[in-house]
Amino acid sequence: MPFKRKRDWDLPESAATDETRYLDRRRVLAGLGIGGAILAAPALFRMGGDETPVAAPPVETDPSSGLYPVARNAAYAVERALTPESEATTYNNFYEFGSHKNIHRAAQALPLRPWEIRIDGMVEKPFTIGFDELLRKMPLEERVYRHRCVEAWAMTVPWSGFALKSLVDLARPLGSAKYLAMETFENREVAPGQNQRWYPWPYLEGLAIDEATHELAFVATGLYGKPMPKQNGAPLRLAVPWKYGFKSVKSLVRFRFTEQRPVSFWEELQGREYGFWANVNPKIPHPRWSQATERLLGTGKRVPTRIYNGYGEFVAGLYSDRKNERLFM
Ligand code: MTE
Repeated sequence: MPFKRKRDWDLPESAATDETRYLDRRRVLAGLGIGGAILAAPALFRMGGDETPVAAPPVETDPSSGLYPVARNAAYAVERALTPESEATTYNNFYEFGSHKNIHRAAQALPLRPWEIRIDGMVEKPFTIGFDELLRKMPLEERVYRHRCVEAWAMTVPWSGFALKSLVDLARPLGSAKYLAMETFENREVAPGQNQRWYPWPYLEGLAIDEATHELAFVATGLYGKPMPKQNGAPLRLAVPWKYGFKSVKSLVRFRFTEQRPVSFWEELQGREYGFWANVNPKIPHPRWSQATERLLGTGKRVPTRIYNGYGEFVAGLYSDRKNERLFM
């Protein structure tokens, strides 16, 4: 495997078996001319379960359910039709619950209360806040966003939530903080994937401060006018629609402000394929597949990918002084 250095999570025997199965599958896919559409490194970090999606179980009564639906912000209209809810809630990436798409049942094991969020690092005063208290402080709205996975599938979904900038303002970071690192919960008892110790848990993602305070960066707490389903990252997850979906880290428990650029989950596993910036660009292929087009879930259609996933008019300016960085990988 093309990793730079050997790590203590290197291939156990069980995963080697997986690799054989993976290679067989790759041969079949190559024969069909559709190889490559998986997220991560060739052996361990693959996706693509073969189980047929089934309807998600109903959302259990959630203490925040009375807050939804919230008013839609028309500033971010998308000209595409919404993806059917049944599709968006049954075709998921959430490695904590399995390295395939059909994790929505397994994810129901995640307990959502109490849910505490730590805000620390380079802030005036670190603090911990319960999710319901945070919700009361934040101005909720709905935004319809495109959602584009690095695997070249795409959805259009109505997230509810609040601008990440509102949370940054609440956190009061020091002027010297340059990045915001965001972390998922860690609970091996409910999330079987976290027993696979070769992954660098907890799932972590980061943004530069100017990205985190950009108007489009959103903390999503609901979906389709209801509280966030567990499989989509309840109770709160990131939505940064101009970047590949792996940046939109789920089920957050920590926001840490830092001077040093954090190394994110996929970047640590396979930095050559999943970089820090990860902005969508049809002209820069993933090392193992093209990004020129994307498959619109629920439609059977493939359409051209757009630079910054169609949000260039909003975000291109963020990168004008970063031309030397690997912005699109
Ligand atoms: N966050 C965590 N904690 N774990 C994950 O495996 N997968 C990422 C991202 N956030 C992931 C995660 C990837 S690869 C994608 S494409 C999106 O979540 C998928 O979000 P969705 O399932 O709501 O469509």
